[in-house]
Amino acid sequence: MAIFLIISTFLLNSTPPEWLEQVADHLPELLNDHANCEKKAAGTALNLMFRYVDNTVLCTQLSKLAREELRHFEQVQAIMTARSIEPQPLSASRYAGELRADVRHAEPERLLDTLIVSAIVEARSCERFERLSEVVDPELAEFYRSLTKSEARHFETYLSFASELATSQGIGQEVLDQRTSYFLEKDAKLITQTDNQFRFHSGPIAT
Ligand SMILES: [Fe+2]
Ligand SMILES: [Fe+2]
Repeated sequence: MAIFLIISTFLLNSTPPEWLEQVADHLPELLNDHANCEKKAAGTALNLMFRYVDNTVLCTQLSKLAREELRHFEQVQAIMTARSIEPQPLSASRYAGELRADVRHAEPERLLDTLIVSAIVEARSCERFERLSEVVDPELAEFYRSLTKSEARHFETYLSFASELATSQGIGQEVLDQRTSYFLEKDAKLITQTDNQFRFHSGPIAT
């Protein structure tokens, strides 16, 4: 799939094999955290819609995106129910919080950074679904492969809004590229460094 090649080129690294080897022993946490990630993805889109109410084009696209993320949540929840996996509250993974910690506070930098971080989270999710589909059972593999298409589209949506903002606000391509590289390096570290809990966006846990 062409978009997956674009995402593989965009991200600085792939999910480490050690993380994939740990999936089988952590499937209930993975599905619970995946359900949380879908809700958070919808929440991120809704927060942007509240903050940038005058940006009609952005709000329309994000409304569609949020609905799609909530549909994904319903699909994950149905799979968990079918497999008798109990929904449980889970602490958040370090991933999104650490990426968002470096979003700048003044506008338009705040929106630019948020759009870049959101694009990276979508790209990483797409990459994870693709890798996961190689190591899970056929039913789950089919579900994950189906999700790669929408997450790839979400990646494109966020990145194109970041690019348009950089142009319309006179931020420029150079700054856009610098900020994208900065957050991509953070993503690459968070995905590969040893983590203390297994999550959808975690690094491998210490064994
Ligand atoms: Fe999703
Ligand atoms: Fe998404």
